[in-house]
Amino acid sequence: MSIKYIFRLFFLIVISWFVSQYSLFSLSKVFSAHRKFRESQYHNAHRTSVQHVVSSSKPNSSSKFKYQYHATNRDYQDDLEENGCKKSNNPIVFNTRNDFGELLENEGAKIGVELGVQEGIFAEHTLKHWHSAEKYVLVDAWKPLENYEDLSNKKQTEHDKLYDKAMWRLSQFHNVDIDVCRNFTSKCAIRFPNEYFDYIYVDARHDFKGVTIDLNGWWPKLKPGGIFAGHDYVTQFEGPEQTGQNWTKQFDGSIDYTRTAVKGAVQKFAKFHKLKICTQNKNTSWPSWAIRKPSKNVIDKKLKLKPFNTCVVSFIFGKKFSVYKNSLAANKEKYCARHS
Ligand SMILES: C[S@@+](CC[C@H](N)C(=O)[O-])C[C@H]1O[C@@H](n2cnc3c(N)ncnc32)[C@H](O)[C@@H]1O
Repeated sequence: MSIKYIFRLFFLIVISWFVSQYSLFSLSKVFSAHRKFRESQYHNAHRTSVQHVVSSSKPNSSSKFKYQYHATNRDYQDDLEENGCKKSNNPIVFNTRNDFGELLENEGAKIGVELGVQEGIFAEHTLKHWHSAEKYVLVDAWKPLENYEDLSNKKQTEHDKLYDKAMWRLSQFHNVDIDVCRNFTSKCAIRFPNEYFDYIYVDARHDFKGVTIDLNGWWPKLKPGGIFAGHDYVTQFEGPEQTGQNWTKQFDGSIDYTRTAVKGAVQKFAKFHKLKICTQNKNTSWPSWAIRKPSKNVIDKKLKLKPFNTCVVSFIFGKKFSVYKNSLAANKEKYCARHS
């Protein structure tokens, strides 16, 4: 073989080596950017959801059509809901919400909160069956609320009576620390540290936007593995309309053109977090929903892209290739160490 061919071959090898290096490096950049995007999406969940709701509330004709379509499209729900979540690893099986007390007892849960208490009927029922409860937080404004076309919206004198009744009902639970926050749900949320509760029951406002704010505001307060649940898993057409309530009117006066109310907000939330909604087994009116908060390592897995590519690329080329050394070596440390 002449020196000319050897030189050409050598030149070809060098060029292909540079090209492969460059594509691998770009690939690792793409994966890393995508991972960062997923993380920021997760951490900005609250902002994103509220922004979406605000845009869906604008009364322009195209959005009206789009969301009405969603509201009546049954397929939209089917991939999210599963009666009792029996197939999942950690099911929450209940026939009605009256089973929650026993369920929490069996789970060994200790601390719970109810958003929207009224006269404390459900709180009393839950605690009667949840014998080892240590703390139960009652959150309710117990005052007339604006833009709340709901049977629970009463005059102040009636709210005061409901408050007294709730206090009287719950005074029987001597072993439970009953903590009352008489304020808006959003104000009460900031009183508690993150990952504090084993159980959170959402039953305050019923409009899409109001429920979305409660879901996003209280979700961080739930421990991994805890139960996030709530009442009235219905759209405007599945009960509120028939009982003279208007749950499409939102707390800021805007209209929810999706008309999906609590159901729409819970589904959007579950879809965003890629979680299953466990619904009641019995087909009753005003059903409850429940979602299990994934354990920490499951959240990590969902959040972070599998680091295999970045890890391998950086492991092989990180130290040798001086131009890319810093970023690849940093990636190696970041990904390989965290996931090994
Ligand atoms: C449907 S009732 C709760 C019923 C109770 N969970 C039960 O099942 O016995 C809703 C309550 O939530 C309260 N509420 C509604 N929106 C609220 C908000 N944003 N902040 C605080 N309380 C609110 C109302 O005052 C009302 O008493």
